[in-house]
Amino acid sequence: MNRAAPTPLDNMGRPEPRLDGRAKVTGEARYGSDFGVNDPAYAFLVTSVIAKGRINSIDARAAKGVPGVLEVFTYENTRGLQKVPFSTGGGGATQSMQDMGPEIFHDGQIVGMVVADTYEAAQEAASLVKVEYQAEKPSATFGSAGVTEEDASKASERAKELPQAGDADAAIAAAAVKIEAEYGTPTEHHNPIELFTTTVEWRGDELTIYEPSQFVYGQKASIAKKLGISDDKVRIVSPYVGGAFGSKAQFSPRTGFVAYAAKVLNRPVKLVATRDQGFTIQTYRAETRHKIRFGADLDGTIKGFSHEGFEITSRPDPYTVAGVEDSARVYNYGTVKTHVSLVHADRGTPGFMRSPPVVPYIYALESAMDELAVKLEMDPVELRRKNDSMTDTTGKEWSSRSLMTCYEQAGEKFGWSKREAKPGSMSDGDWLVGWGCATAIYPTHVGASAVRVRLEADGRVRVQTAAHDLGTGAYTVIGQMAAEQLGVPLSHVQVELGDSRFPPAPVAGGSNTTASTCNAVMKACEAILAKLAPPNAMTGSNTGTGRNLEAGFKRLGVGAIEEYAEYLPTGAKPEAMAQLYHGKPFLSGGSRGKKLMYALGAEFVEVRVHKLTREIRVPRIVGAFAAGRIMNTRTARSQLMGGMIWGISSALHEATEIDKRNARYVNDNLADYLIPVNADIRDLDVILVPERDKFVNPAGIKGLGELGNVGTAAAVANAVYNATGIRVRQLPIRLENLMA
Ligand code: MOS
Repeated sequence: MNRAAPTPLDNMGRPEPRLDGRAKVTGEARYGSDFGVNDPAYAFLVTSVIAKGRINSIDARAAKGVPGVLEVFTYENTRGLQKVPFSTGGGGATQSMQDMGPEIFHDGQIVGMVVADTYEAAQEAASLVKVEYQAEKPSATFGSAGVTEEDASKASERAKELPQAGDADAAIAAAAVKIEAEYGTPTEHHNPIELFTTTVEWRGDELTIYEPSQFVYGQKASIAKKLGISDDKVRIVSPYVGGAFGSKAQFSPRTGFVAYAAKVLNRPVKLVATRDQGFTIQTYRAETRHKIRFGADLDGTIKGFSHEGFEITSRPDPYTVAGVEDSARVYNYGTVKTHVSLVHADRGTPGFMRSPPVVPYIYALESAMDELAVKLEMDPVELRRKNDSMTDTTGKEWSSRSLMTCYEQAGEKFGWSKREAKPGSMSDGDWLVGWGCATAIYPTHVGASAVRVRLEADGRVRVQTAAHDLGTGAYTVIGQMAAEQLGVPLSHVQVELGDSRFPPAPVAGGSNTTASTCNAVMKACEAILAKLAPPNAMTGSNTGTGRNLEAGFKRLGVGAIEEYAEYLPTGAKPEAMAQLYHGKPFLSGGSRGKKLMYALGAEFVEVRVHKLTREIRVPRIVGAFAAGRIMNTRTARSQLMGGMIWGISSALHEATEIDKRNARYVNDNLADYLIPVNADIRDLDVILVPERDKFVNPAGIKGLGELGNVGTAAAVANAVYNATGIRVRQLPIRLENLMA
């Protein structure tokens, strides 16, 4: 790994250690449920044991008899709650199924909540709540009787206009070489280590909620709607988040129940949902299916591409990731046809999970690209080079695109030129060796964002914004931007995030935080510097450092300058900022603007498959990534490494198993929900490829939090094929799939 401090010429920021590192390792950092509220009562959820039907009756007498129980909440005494509209753009509700019944839409739906003086009493009482159901036979997933299919473009605004160009059917039919294949990805759950917690305290009509959140302004607006109060009476506090990955981005029904209970009982209430409850009271990544068709010339020029996606969702909500929007952009295919179908089942509504929408769709695309390369007897990197273009099939231009540079740098480091294309031709003792590669891509999102920056005369700086550091490094990069702009050391900068009392930032999703907030910080700092050193008032550089700073403060006769700044990305309507204040984020980028804005990467993987046991290992992975300006090479590297590890997880480990008879998750715990451990991960190499792109935003930042795990699963699958000659088209790949 290159640990040398990069020069500014590389467009790479310094590898500063995390500003929040000390607080986190010493336990000083307070997460949602760590906040002390005065004399809290404790809540415990009761969840449905059926997936479809109705509650006939609830008998809470035994539960209420447990000493210390204050109240048992059910659908019968929570009717006063309003509905928060379901929305998939961030800031809405995770699902429209927000009541405790009587109708049951999915297994594990919240049907009751016991509140007691102690956690133990609430837990015991919850086990004594008797719910009588009238159960119906549920439909679990693809292929289950009773599921209904719907055209996503008719059901969801998100999928309204999917990319189409030319006559792909005809182009594929006429092509010399054709590929047609189907792929599948399983249900996955985020499983953040920090559980889903909610702590609520009312002071008169003022409500404070401590809850891990990716979007405190969204939470604030939603809970206000839920309770029928004004959002200026609500404060949401979430300075640290112990993992989220999309699961804490939207309003979930539990928050409404806890806030309501605290009001009714006139006492702070704390809920820490259990690990297994987290599998059903929050969102998840739904299973997907893909039909991909390619037509190409003998020289590898792709003439037509068709991608049909199928996604599971709940009965009422048209949740879709519709990743054809992005898979259709990766190469210039000559012609493109895309379609997405929603398949409604008796399940909770899915939601964002790390690197939506691309993860399942790019797995399918990049697996099919490998199959096409095999059929063409062409090197898979060359196939990608052949179809690399600064314009996509619909004629849209890229703002910048360093894909082939990523392939060159990662391939060189990996030693790709020594690869044997014929499956099974590389081995080491009892192990078959296989090499594979795939493209990583993630839309560059930039959001409307506001910050407050305060510079003291002694050079200390404070930055406040309601953005979130989900473990990504946001505290640090926001601080770095302020330090750089104002010319002060990073140690002089204090960054405060995750409180709805600060100026609003977008939902911490879609990898937009660094780009959005850093641009706002730049604006605020520019305003401060303009005050300190107005043009013509001083000679020398306008850096705010040393004598300039001192002289400026002296001239102004103040001890501090505080500036509030708003950043609106290109394409934002003027009302975007006002809407953000009321919980509606505006995000631009990806394929939505005048040019295609994406971060890209190339990943190379070595797998080893044991000749007899078929055990699969991933000893080596090299990824090269280009994402515009890199604010901090250390946190960037860490994000990309984490992403690739998650990619290995998707490829070989992760799946939430569904009992199809009951539409119920089976492995709803961290013992049975497989993820890689240290022993599963060996050499991980991250190359940061310099890239300049001022089109995406003035700071030139693309964001990379979700880039690393895109493409990894395909690269692993392609390497498994190279090792064994067996093409597995359903994730995760398990050794039983390789028992030829
Ligand atoms: Mo991230 S899954 O876009 O919150």
